Amino acid sequence: MATICLTTSAGASSLSYDSLEKRLARETRARIEAERLLEDKSRRLYAANKALEKVAENLEGQRQQLNTILDHTVAAIFLVNENMKVVQSNRAANDLFELTDDGLLDLCVLNLFERSETIARLLKKQFHIHAGEEITFEGEATKIGGSRFPFECGVTAIERRDGRRWTCWIISDITRRRRDEAKRANLEKELSQAQKMEALGTLASGVAHEINTPIQYVGDNLRFLKDGLSDISSVLEKITPDHASADLLSACAEADTEFLVAEIPEAIEQSLHGLEQVARIVKAIKEFSHPGNDGHNTVDLNEAIETTVTVTRNQWKYVAEIDLDLAPGLPLAPCSPGDLNQVILNMIVNAADAIAEKGDSELGRIHIVTHEENGWINICISDTGCGMSADVQERMFDPFFTTKDVGKGSGQGLAISYNIIRQKHHGEILCSSEPGQGTMFTLRIPATPDAMADRYANS
Ligand SMILES: Nc1ncnc2c1ncn2[C@@H]1O[C@H](COP(=O)(O)OP(=O)(O)O)[C@@H](O)[C@H]1O
Ligand SMILES: [Mg+2]
Repeated sequence: MATICLTTSAGASSLSYDSLEKRLARETRARIEAERLLEDKSRRLYAANKALEKVAENLEGQRQQLNTILDHTVAAIFLVNENMKVVQSNRAANDLFELTDDGLLDLCVLNLFERSETIARLLKKQFHIHAGEEITFEGEATKIGGSRFPFECGVTAIERRDGRRWTCWIISDITRRRRDEAKRANLEKELSQAQKMEALGTLASGVAHEINTPIQYVGDNLRFLKDGLSDISSVLEKITPDHASADLLSACAEADTEFLVAEIPEAIEQSLHGLEQVARIVKAIKEFSHPGNDGHNTVDLNEAIETTVTVTRNQWKYVAEIDLDLAPGLPLAPCSPGDLNQVILNMIVNAADAIAEKGDSELGRIHIVTHEENGWINICISDTGCGMSADVQERMFDPFFTTKDVGKGSGQGLAISYNIIRQKHHGEILCSSEPGQGTMFTLRIPATPDAMADRYANS
């Protein structure tokens, strides 16, 4: 058997070839096994890595989805830590409060709200809300730029795994809701005012109807007395000293028949004149309170003005005189007569109030002019009253805006008139006013088909 001598650093030793071969084979096997194990491990690691990558991808996808949802949510959302500092906010929150990244840094959520007692109380309570519970409140919030808006907020508590309690604040700008609510409240008030007016109208027209009958028979009787008296006068004229007894003559002298015969016809004439006036007022009240149906009719605006001037006489006669300058042959306007009466009434009452407010010792003047211009009917109502400042003119059409004392002004007259002329009749309502000098309102209503077509095309 051959022997190979090997010399190693450790010294020389001699191994048989067989044992060397065996050792080599063993080591080869061991290396192959190790390589196999390593490959197996690497494969498993690779698979685990792939699985992790997938999980990470899914998580990233979910995170992006969540962010997309958060950023497309219209409500502003703030995640707030236990020290009331904003930890995260969505895009709507940043937009609503005009927040930049710098602005968000170390931002205390309380700085976003106007301090009020209610909010302070509610905020105190938020420290005690339980997980899942929600507290809601409304108030005024302030943007970083300083402007304010009404908001509604819901706060919910979030229990973290580490035991800390954070809160989620969901805030909505409710400006539009508040505006709609105010609009609805105005409409309700307007409606109730309109219903009251209608009830008054029905009452007034009922009273006018009742007064009509006695007016007629009082008038008939007065005319009968007038005729009868003229007959009696011709009889009395025949009582002269030549034809009558002394007794009759002294009775006539005692009754002062001469005076009666001269004065009674004038008294009857005055009564008839007064009665005519009453009849005219009663007719105006009837026309004013029940001017046909509520829809659009063709209306003689000159007649509507005369009627309204008559029924409002008591409102202006102590402070002003009214001059009418009504264009003859004015075209009939397609209007709702009741509505137009109301607008003219508002204008006349406002003019009389402005004249009273000015407080001149002499009577003021209200001048009403009508004329037609290119198919439009213009009604100008001017007064010599106190006039309006620019500030009042800017706000005069606002519902419930009034400069008058409580109980005198409701601030609805011009708002309703504006609505009637602009919205219902597609017309215009213009105003020029000079403080201390007076005011002129011009109502413009399209009357001919051309003017209306023009108006519709331009509105
Ligand atoms: N002809 C006018 N002259 C001066 N001020 C006027 C005149 N018409 C309206 N105003 C002003 O506009 C305000 C609003 O008018 P209006 O809506 O009719 O309400 P109200 O008469 O109840 O106050 C009045 O309070 C008044 O200040
Ligand atoms: Mg008024």
